[in-house]
Amino acid sequence: MATINKNYLKLPGSYLFSTIGKKVKEYSEGHPDAKIIRLGIGDVTLPLAPCVIEALHGAVDEMGREETFKGYAPDLGYEFLRSAIAERDFKKRGCDISADEIFVSDGAKGDCSNIQEIFGLDNTIAVCDPVYPVYVDSNVMAGRTGEYDPKTERFKGVIYMPCTAENNFLPELPAEVPDLIYLCFPNNPTGAVMKKDELQKWVDYANKHDSIILYDAAYESYISEDDVPHSIYECEGAKDCAIEMRSFSKTAGFTGVRLGYTVIPKDLEAGGEKLWPLWARRHGTKYNGAPYIVQRAGAAVYTDEGRKQVEEQIAYYMGNARIILDGLKAAGYDVFGGVNAPYIWLKAPYNLTSWEFFDHLLEKANVVGTPGSGFGPSGEHYFRLTAFGNRENTIEAIERIKKL
Ligand code: MLT
Repeated sequence: MATINKNYLKLPGSYLFSTIGKKVKEYSEGHPDAKIIRLGIGDVTLPLAPCVIEALHGAVDEMGREETFKGYAPDLGYEFLRSAIAERDFKKRGCDISADEIFVSDGAKGDCSNIQEIFGLDNTIAVCDPVYPVYVDSNVMAGRTGEYDPKTERFKGVIYMPCTAENNFLPELPAEVPDLIYLCFPNNPTGAVMKKDELQKWVDYANKHDSIILYDAAYESYISEDDVPHSIYECEGAKDCAIEMRSFSKTAGFTGVRLGYTVIPKDLEAGGEKLWPLWARRHGTKYNGAPYIVQRAGAAVYTDEGRKQVEEQIAYYMGNARIILDGLKAAGYDVFGGVNAPYIWLKAPYNLTSWEFFDHLLEKANVVGTPGSGFGPSGEHYFRLTAFGNRENTIEAIERIKKL
């Protein structure tokens, strides 16, 4: 008799953004005239930059000619993209990462959830609380998290590192040493950032205890302040303890195109074994690579013109972030993030729970956000708005919230 992977039964009913989608659908069916503004899921709204479109067209044409047609992509990704990444994202920032250490993929979500496969099931994990749900859920599916405790709303085998207003939403080094440490900076959902000296402490801690840091830098291109590292490899010793994941989704509007990459330094080891060959083996076995046309589109983002175009898009979204921050502050809300990240994290007023505030905003302002408690118990009473809407809707949403 076939049986199931029972770990799946430990998961919350549905993925956070599916739950929100369902609630909004139900509401709009009951209120067909409501003009709902969605600032919930962090999905981009601007069309792809002209350089990306041009590269896609060019690559499609190549695929239509016998002499330039491409079949399976190389396991690690095309060299033209990996060298552009190594040069622009790392060498230019003084990080010693080579093209061979970069694995191109179809996005950071898959990489963040799959990377745990190369580690033992006996590894303990530490996550920030609140946290992007994918890190915990993928470890639950693998069977690494123990039982769920409904009282604490936490998995017993996970080390949660509370990130609250009291610690500026930055986790403290855990007293109980984890084997794997998930860090995401600029942070989703709080928008907090770690300065270089703070991140260096994590690198030193991981090296001291032989832990591995899984560093999600999906929002790196939103950093606006000087002393915030764009890559963990800006810290000394990070090549001995860290894997970094990046995404084109928020950098270049690729949420519907799909492209990302993971960096595994060649000499990085866990338990005396090198990790690079394991991920290469997994990549080769389970994945056939991001499509050629998409990798060409990704490479266009690394040209001078492409960089300029995507930076304009990022500036547009950060303009939205400013409007949200200023508007909510003027309305008396406690607000965080939004300076080096496209997320604004706010305290729900009148001690409302995150979901109560979600319902209130949906019903009274027809604005959709994300309840902070959906990211973990320390997110309770908080709420996330994204800056990825269009300008007109963002202004309108904030006006509606101010009027509440
Ligand atoms: C979010 O809203 O947190 C993100 O869009 C999720 C993601 O990037 O998968």
